[in-house]
Amino acid sequence: MSTPTIHQNSAALDAADSAESHLITVTLRIRRFNPEVSAEVEWIDYRIPIDPKERVLDALHKVKWEIDGTLTFRRSCAHGVCGSDAMRINGKNRLACKTLIKDLNPDKPITIEPIKGLTVLKDLVVDMDPFFQAYRDVMPFLITKGNEPTRERLQSAEDRERFDDTTKCILCAACTSACPVFWNDGQYFGPAAIVNAHRFIFDSRDEGGEQRLEILGDKDGVWRCRTTFNCTDACPRGIEVTKAIAEVKRALITRRF
Ligand code: SF4
Ligand code: FES
Repeated sequence: MSTPTIHQNSAALDAADSAESHLITVTLRIRRFNPEVSAEVEWIDYRIPIDPKERVLDALHKVKWEIDGTLTFRRSCAHGVCGSDAMRINGKNRLACKTLIKDLNPDKPITIEPIKGLTVLKDLVVDMDPFFQAYRDVMPFLITKGNEPTRERLQSAEDRERFDDTTKCILCAACTSACPVFWNDGQYFGPAAIVNAHRFIFDSRDEGGEQRLEILGDKDGVWRCRTTFNCTDACPRGIEVTKAIAEVKRALITRRF
């Protein structure tokens, strides 16, 4: 990492230093890259005053709105639902909107960089096309045969429970971009696509399980998984990703799901 340049809003920092202020000064060390300006990556330090109970997303907003409007990152819901602000914070994949400053050892610079394994377009924004292509490839929708039903498709609570965990995915890519197999060649479907295949393979109303297993039994499918558990550690929704992948592997062998 090259020596970071420091940017700050001095007036805001002075106000935060006053005796009655509950704000602390933190340094965000952000990996900047703008291919329209330079092919080089630059690490820049931003010193900002912030309430430690605020989130990394709030800190990024302060930088963008008060110091450097060119900083580029994705976010939408700001409440852990849309999955658009996954990034590497202090070397770990997290959602910026769910990560509190106080939980990050704010006495030291907080490093922020894009998720790995996907092409960086600008600053913290990566090209998500390969990720969503893998998602589309596993057909993440209900597949049924025969005539249109005349009433809703019923399901027992036990059958629903079978895939409850994998319904929680918000497609943030934290798992896939934490996976060393995905970093290596980017051809592997990746944990998130398998999680979303699992959600339908084990749905008692779905009849496309065989097709999905055929796709995931491919050379770039589930057998590439090396069970490192990085995906499970990274998932901000607490999904047992590695377990879901293991269940799909088992279904491929037994053809029971
Ligand atoms: S499984 Fe978890 S980490 Fe992976 S995309 Fe879904 S929510 Fe994100
Ligand atoms: S902004 Fe939507 S999950 Fe963080």
